[in-house]
Amino acid sequence: MKERKRRDFNREASYTSASKGGKGSSRLFLLFAICFSVLVLTIGLSHVRLYEVFHPVLLSAWPITESRLIFTDPSHPLRYSQNSNPTYIKVNHAVLLPDEIVLVTNHHSLLSIPNPDLLKCQYTPPASSHPSRHSLSTKAKLNLSPLSLSTSLVRCPLGPPGFSLSLSTSPQSLHRPFQWDHLAYSALFDPLDNSTVVFAKGFNLRSARISDPARYRCVFRRDLSNPKYIITSPVITAAQEIFRCKTPLTVLNSYYKKMDLPLVSVKTKDRGAIALPSVARPEILKRYRRTQKKKKKHSMCICTMVRNQARFLREWVIYHSRVGVQRWLIYDNNSEDKIEQAVNSLGQSNYSITLHPWPWVKTQEAGFAHCALRARAECEWVGFIDVDEFFYFPNGLTIRDVLKNYSNQPWVGELRTDCHNFGPSGHKKAPENGVVTGYTCRMLAPERHKSIIRPEALNKSLINVVHHFHLREGMRSVNVGQGVMLINHYKYQAWEVFKEKFKRRVATYVADWQDEENVGSKDRAPGLGTKPVEPPDWPYRFCDLNDTGLRDWVVRVFKDPQTGELPW
Ligand SMILES: *[C@@H]1O[C@H](CO)[C@@H](O)[C@H](O)[C@H]1NC(C)=O
Ligand SMILES: *[C@@H]1O[C@H](CO)[C@@H](O)[C@H](O)[C@H]1NC(C)=O
Ligand SMILES: *[C@@H]1O[C@H](CO)[C@@H](O)[C@H](O)[C@H]1NC(C)=O
Ligand SMILES: *[C@@H]1O[C@H](CO)[C@@H](O)[C@H](O)[C@H]1NC(C)=O
Ligand SMILES: *[C@@H]1O[C@H](CO)[C@@H](O)[C@H](O)[C@H]1NC(C)=O
Ligand SMILES: *[C@@H]1O[C@H](CO)[C@@H](O)[C@H](O)[C@H]1NC(C)=O
Repeated sequence: MKERKRRDFNREASYTSASKGGKGSSRLFLLFAICFSVLVLTIGLSHVRLYEVFHPVLLSAWPITESRLIFTDPSHPLRYSQNSNPTYIKVNHAVLLPDEIVLVTNHHSLLSIPNPDLLKCQYTPPASSHPSRHSLSTKAKLNLSPLSLSTSLVRCPLGPPGFSLSLSTSPQSLHRPFQWDHLAYSALFDPLDNSTVVFAKGFNLRSARISDPARYRCVFRRDLSNPKYIITSPVITAAQEIFRCKTPLTVLNSYYKKMDLPLVSVKTKDRGAIALPSVARPEILKRYRRTQKKKKKHSMCICTMVRNQARFLREWVIYHSRVGVQRWLIYDNNSEDKIEQAVNSLGQSNYSITLHPWPWVKTQEAGFAHCALRARAECEWVGFIDVDEFFYFPNGLTIRDVLKNYSNQPWVGELRTDCHNFGPSGHKKAPENGVVTGYTCRMLAPERHKSIIRPEALNKSLINVVHHFHLREGMRSVNVGQGVMLINHYKYQAWEVFKEKFKRRVATYVADWQDEENVGSKDRAPGLGTKPVEPPDWPYRFCDLNDTGLRDWVVRVFKDPQTGELPW
């Protein structure tokens, strides 16, 4: 259905360009119609389905496709240009997500380039061997503003179907995007056992189950200018989307020298199997020694994944800082609410907080595993909670007090905490002073629990399901008593907040992409007619009892006695 629409759109677009020809427009159209049929025929025959470049059926997977179609610009992607001139930014890969395209560049701090406005997503019409088709389309390059920039990623709107995408700063390198669901999308080097952990979608490994690692091989491709240079290695564990690979010796050396990092991928052992396409170059995790005496930098860290929740970050971080959290790792799932600014501003106030782009679709478990590994070197404990969840200590303790209790019980690998779900508490609008003081009425029964883990206690496979990790043998989890620690989960907030959870994003379509005025438009059709309607009694739902415990504590501890204001 969707596909059909795209084709129709493409026809329309081409028609528009034909009729812009002016006087001889009907003749042109006829010509176009012929070209179109020829083209369709060619497509049908050659299996190169041009109209679906943005929904590509991977013809042959990595590495052949890649070398032919992706790396038209064979620069060395790891020679990061320290130069902040955007003309040095090169695109290495493109990945098609359901609503957008992510470009993976060779840069590592796109946010710091001085004139980011120069960076445009540039769409080039499909080249055609037919001369008149070609002449119709050469002028029609389309430039759109990126949806966002992050460390090395540029997120671009879906363009017109069939167009190739690149950055305006490197127009020569055209990219045929990889599919998000058939891709090695991230990788880490784990110095504890010298393994390489690859996060990949495409093999249907079941949730919460260990798979047979003997069925897979890891693939390392060291030298980009030499596509034949491939090394494979055994898989140590395979589960969900996580493959732990033995690192080949030559690759290990390159890790330690931090140069020439390979692209890594996974394939099955079947004869003739081809590795998944890959955009994953391992991030080298910090080495550290586990010793009894030496404490890690932080005792308590939090990993979380957000999407368009920047406005809740400040209260959540400042509050948790007071109860003993020292470090926040924020995984950003394609936010469009300037979350970088919110994070930067907290960073400038000396909160140890970092933002990590995580645009991949349906990869929450993988993201948590990724975060747990990244946090391991500096965090004794890591909590996995959302930004609408707050640790609450009814007896006025802090997380430190609770963790101290387990410091001499190294077999405790996970602490489980019950959650209370709060309702809108009578609010028709988001309360001005934040969620903790705003929402005070909750449901009676605790719902589920969240966990705080010791990163060393995790099973090698890194399996996790809904915020719970599998532990390695000999490790135990304990339930922390409700009198000691709880989580207040502000789950059902005022309608204007809650409805965001429903909001479906739709593809950015610029109606007439040749119209200069429309260039850069970020118009979206929000809700797509499925906008949920507020139930009349919404503000009073999910309210079994008043629970003002956390509110009262926060008011006592945080409220400025002079101005009566809270610090967020
Ligand atoms: C990892 O590799 C390095 C370099 O080859 C070596 O020095 C170190 O002992 C290895 N560590 C483990 C746990 O095998
Ligand atoms: C943050 O820390 C730096 C260095 O320790 C200090 O100079 C600066 O004043 C601090 N900023 C804030 C807002 O506390
Ligand atoms: C990010 O958000 C999109 C859209 O809501 C969703 O489809 C996707 O699964 C999310 N990704 C993760 C990792 O949660
Ligand atoms: C410490 O552990 C004991 C025994 O497990 C438990 O009864 C007590 O509530 C804990 N205290 C804190 C502060 O976690
Ligand atoms: C990891 O979990 C699996 C079962 O889920 C178990 O067989 C294996 O022994 C565990 N690994 C370790 C190191 O405990
Ligand atoms: C909560 O407190 C408010 C005001 O004190 C009261 O009107 C309401 O009935 C209480 N709700 C519950 C469920 O006890």
